[in-house]
Amino acid sequence: MTIRLDGQVAIVTGAGQGLGRTHALALAERGAKIVVNDLGGARDGTGHSSEAAEAVVAEIIANGGEAIANGANVADLERVEAMVQQAMEKWGRVDILINNAGILRDKSFLKMTAEDFRLVIEVHLMGSFNCTKAVWAIMREQEYGRIVFTSSSSGLYGNFGQSNYGAAKMGVIGLMNVLHLEGAKYNIRVNALAPAAGTRMTEDIFPADLFALFAPEAVSPGIVFLSGPDAPSRKILTAAAGSFAVSKIYETEGLNFTPDELSAEAIADAWEEIDSPDQQRELQAGGEQSMKFGQQAAAKLGIKL
Ligand code: NAI
Repeated sequence: MTIRLDGQVAIVTGAGQGLGRTHALALAERGAKIVVNDLGGARDGTGHSSEAAEAVVAEIIANGGEAIANGANVADLERVEAMVQQAMEKWGRVDILINNAGILRDKSFLKMTAEDFRLVIEVHLMGSFNCTKAVWAIMREQEYGRIVFTSSSSGLYGNFGQSNYGAAKMGVIGLMNVLHLEGAKYNIRVNALAPAAGTRMTEDIFPADLFALFAPEAVSPGIVFLSGPDAPSRKILTAAAGSFAVSKIYETEGLNFTPDELSAEAIADAWEEIDSPDQQRELQAGGEQSMKFGQQAAAKLGIKL
């Protein structure tokens, strides 16, 4: 079934270039009106310019779409609220939010300053919070919303020199998990994208011949899917070079020790079983973990819950 977004309004942050630009173009192609947000700074977050966002707006309009540019720094809640206000005044609703804006301050942890750590958290995690907070009440009121956070394999699995970025990128997964639960009743679906693409952010990592293979255009259909009416919720879609997969968090079944049995050494001795993936499963909410452990403890002690 063709995914159409006619009449819908999407905000794409950091859409002046790279993945944000191709996300914005892809959503516009499906009929969504787009707020092209971009601070227009350097890769490390310094400076700003409105040129990039305006160029993407011009591209969308040239393709027959509708778009407006916005230069808010996503880390600034007041500017973000004004951006959402701008969209509401122009189009009266916000259906889709793609939290994509991002910067890098890579350093080994030994050399990582608190400022480098804080700035990356401010843009990726607080920026995602700010934009989501600013649209949340609107989406609840509309009883419709699609929100995508941008995570990264650096957060999901780790990457040398990116402790700040990895922490921020895993932070948005926690935000997604909770907002999925809080939004479900209002038809707000919340997902994350963990992409890889040849952009300014990765130009010194990707070899030149891989740049074309890892085109951002090969990721953005995933954003259209996550923005559509039939989007899933609480999924981490990983995407690069035209491939798509889902990253999941599993918990092993685990093992219970009675107070008599319990010791650090007992855990060490049973480590293989505790760590065994045999009966691992995805938990649907934090409370399921306490429930599982409560049931194990009660069963071991012969208590009926
Ligand atoms: P990029 O550097 O090409 O584009 C990021 C855009 O965000 C820039 O246009 C920049 O001006 C804008 N931006 C930065 N800080 C901002 C702020 N405070 N407020 C508003 N706009 C701001 O980067 P790329 O590669 O397109 O990355 C997009 C997203 O995907 C980022 O969240 C990044 O962390 C994530 N990502 C990218 C990967 C890749 O392989 N390119 C890998 C994993 C995640």
